[in-house]
Amino acid sequence: MDTSDSASVEAFFASIPVVDGIFTTAAEYVVGPMRDLDPTDAASPFESKFWGQYRVVRAALDRLSSDASIVLMSGAASVRPPAAAPAYVAANAAIEGLARGLAVELAPIRVNAVSPGTIDGNLWANRDEAVRAASFAQFSADTVLGRPGREGEVADAVIHLLTNGYTTGSTLYVDGGYSLR
Ligand SMILES: NC(=O)c1ccc[n+]([C@@H]2O[C@H](COP(=O)([O-])OP(=O)(O)OC[C@H]3O[C@@H](n4cnc5c(N)ncnc54)[C@H](OP(=O)(O)O)[C@@H]3O)[C@@H](O)[C@H]2O)c1
Repeated sequence: MDTSDSASVEAFFASIPVVDGIFTTAAEYVVGPMRDLDPTDAASPFESKFWGQYRVVRAALDRLSSDASIVLMSGAASVRPPAAAPAYVAANAAIEGLARGLAVELAPIRVNAVSPGTIDGNLWANRDEAVRAASFAQFSADTVLGRPGREGEVADAVIHLLTNGYTTGSTLYVDGGYSLR
């Protein structure tokens, strides 16, 4: 599906009678300082990452089983802002707020958020080597565990949130302690 297109999202769920779990990592956005970004780019973390996930959950509502679990994708910038990324920071904070709000509205369906630090995976593999090395070095210096995370470490946390029956409205920071410092 294309999470930026409501018709595409609704068409996807039309063929699925019951939904037990939702997790979508789909997003594309521009990050930068307020002074430099035009309004479309500045809105892109909200439009793609926040509203994309909102559309997915909204389209699945009538198909969710009573013990379904939803995990929203956030990012630890929500609580420890990097330099020059204010709209991205705000979009992630909004996603964590959405998890809390939906946990109340949709109970007993559980809704949580996972909030990673910098992860050594596909996104960074597709960036320029010098940019990647500088970002990994900075994140390693900033975080308690001294290294970027791995995609499997985020997946473990998502599986926990999908399956744990007594966790809702929480945000799990898979960030090596980045948000502590
Ligand atoms: N990587 C990190 O360090 C990190 C840290 C914190 C949070 N996160 C969050 O993790 C999420 C995923 O990031 P990632 O690192 O896995 O990035 P990624 O490798 O770039 O994956 C993003 C995926 O989203 C897909 N996508 C983009 N727009 C879409 C749309 N409108 N509809 C459907 N699919 C779409 C892309 O598909 P195509 O390849 O076809 O474009 C791509 O497969 C993002 O929300 C990001 O903010 C990542």
